[in-house]
Amino acid sequence: MSKDTVTIRDNRNNREVEFPILHGSEGPAVFDITHLYRDLGLFTLDPGFRSTASCKSDITFIDGEEGILLYRGYPVEQLVDRCDHLEVCYLLLNGELPTDAENKEFRRIVTNHTMMHEQLAQMYRGFRRDAHPMAILVGVVGALSAFYHDSIDIRDPRHRLVSAFRIIAKMPTIAAAAYKYYMGQPFMYPKNELTYAENFLHMMFATPCGEYKVSPVMARAMDQIMILHADHEQNASTSTVRLAGSSQANPFAAISAGVGSLWGPAHGGANEAVLKMLREIGSVERIPEFIKRAKDPNDPFRLMGFGHRVYKNFDPRAQILRKTAKEILDAMGYVYDPLFHIALELEKIALEDEYFVRKKLYPNVDFYSGVILSAMGIPTNMFTVIFAVSRSIGWIAQWNEMIGSDEGIGRPRQLYTGHARRDVPPSGLKED
Ligand code: CMC
Repeated sequence: MSKDTVTIRDNRNNREVEFPILHGSEGPAVFDITHLYRDLGLFTLDPGFRSTASCKSDITFIDGEEGILLYRGYPVEQLVDRCDHLEVCYLLLNGELPTDAENKEFRRIVTNHTMMHEQLAQMYRGFRRDAHPMAILVGVVGALSAFYHDSIDIRDPRHRLVSAFRIIAKMPTIAAAAYKYYMGQPFMYPKNELTYAENFLHMMFATPCGEYKVSPVMARAMDQIMILHADHEQNASTSTVRLAGSSQANPFAAISAGVGSLWGPAHGGANEAVLKMLREIGSVERIPEFIKRAKDPNDPFRLMGFGHRVYKNFDPRAQILRKTAKEILDAMGYVYDPLFHIALELEKIALEDEYFVRKKLYPNVDFYSGVILSAMGIPTNMFTVIFAVSRSIGWIAQWNEMIGSDEGIGRPRQLYTGHARRDVPPSGLKED
C-alpha cells in the first residue's frame, strides 16, 4: 500500500478503497475522491465546502493560520508596497509580473477599452434613481454579454484575454456611472492619462462643470484597496464565477453572477454593513451592548467586519489597511472622527474579549476598508461596488484558468432528504 494514499473502509461490506493524496506547492494536501462514487457508490457531504477543494489553481494561496496571502507566489504586502493595481492585474492574469515593455503595452491596451458602449450607457435609465448601485452593477455587467457574445470563442486563449481586458478596463467606468446615476449627475468619460485608481476617482467625483484634481493620498489608498481585494482563491463569488462559467456561458454573464454573490453581507457586502453597524452603535458607551448581542446564541446579530472562514489568527489585508486608515484620516484632516473612534474602541474590546479570542474572530479587511472609504467621502452603498471593481481581475483570471483547464462543467450532487416516490392523486389535488 502506497504511503501517499488515504484508505476508506466501508464498514457495511468491509470494502476498502485507496485514494491518492495530491500535493500542491503550498498548504494542506488533498485526497482525490474523483472515483469515490464509482468505487464505493457513495457521495461526500460537505455543505459550505469546509473540507473540500473545488478545483486546482495556480493563482492565489492563503495560509489562514499564519495570515499569509500570496498572488502567484508574491506576498500581498510586497505587492502593495512595490506595484500598482494594473501591475497586479497583469500578474494575476499572466502568472508573472510584467517587464517594463509588457507593462506599457498592458496599460495601453487596458486604457483603450475603458469606455462603455453608448447603448450600454442608456441602459442605466431603466433603473430607479434610488436603485442600489450593486443592483445596477449586476444588470450592466450582465448586459455586457449582449455586446460581446457571438464574437467570443472562449476556447481561444486570445479571445479570453480580450474579455479580460474588457472587464478590467470597463468595470471602473460601469461602477462610477452607477454612482453618477444615483447622484443624478452626468456620467464622466474615462481619462486615459490617469492611473487606474485615479481614473476611477475622476469618474466618480469630477463633473463637467470644473476641474477635478485627484488627491494623491486618496489615489494611493484606492490603489491599495484594489490590490488587497484583487483575488482571494475560491471564495463564494469566485466559486460562483467558475461554476457559472463552467457551462461555457458568456464570461460577462458569469462575472455578473459573481457580482451577485459578492453582494451579501457575509462576503463583500460586509464593508457596507460595517459602516451601518458603526452608525447604529453611535457612541463608544453603547459598544458593550452590541458585544453582548454578538455573543448571544439566540440573537442573529454578528459584529460586521469580524471573523473569516479561512483566516484564524489575522487577516493580512486588514493589517495593511489598518495603517492606511490612520494615514488617510490624518491626510484628510480628521482630527477626531467619531466613527473611526468607535471602530478603534470596538476593535480593542473585541480583540481582548474572551468570546472573540476563543472563537478566533479578528477584524477582517472589510472592517478597515469601510472606514477608509467613508473618510474618502465615498457613500456607503458604493463600498461593495468598489470591492467588485477590485475583485473583477480575480474573477476573470480564475475564469480564464478554469476554461483553459479540463475541469468540465461543475455539477455538485446532494443528499436527497425529500419525499420518496409517491403518486399524484387522481384529482390532481392534495386529498383532505
Ligand atoms: N460576530 C459574532 N460571532 C461570530 C462572528 C461575528 N462576526 N463570526 C462568526 N461568529 C461565531 C458564530 O456565531 C459561530 O459561533 P458558534 O460556533 O457558537 O455557532 C462561530 O463564530 C463560527 O462562525 P461560522 O459562521 O461557522 O464561521 P464561518 O466561517 O462560516 O463564517 C464569516 C465566516 C466571515 C461569514 C463570519 O465570521 C461572519 O459572518 N462575519 C461577519 C461578516 C463579515 O465581516 N464578512 C466579511 C468576510 S471578509 C471579506 C470577504 O472575504 O468577503
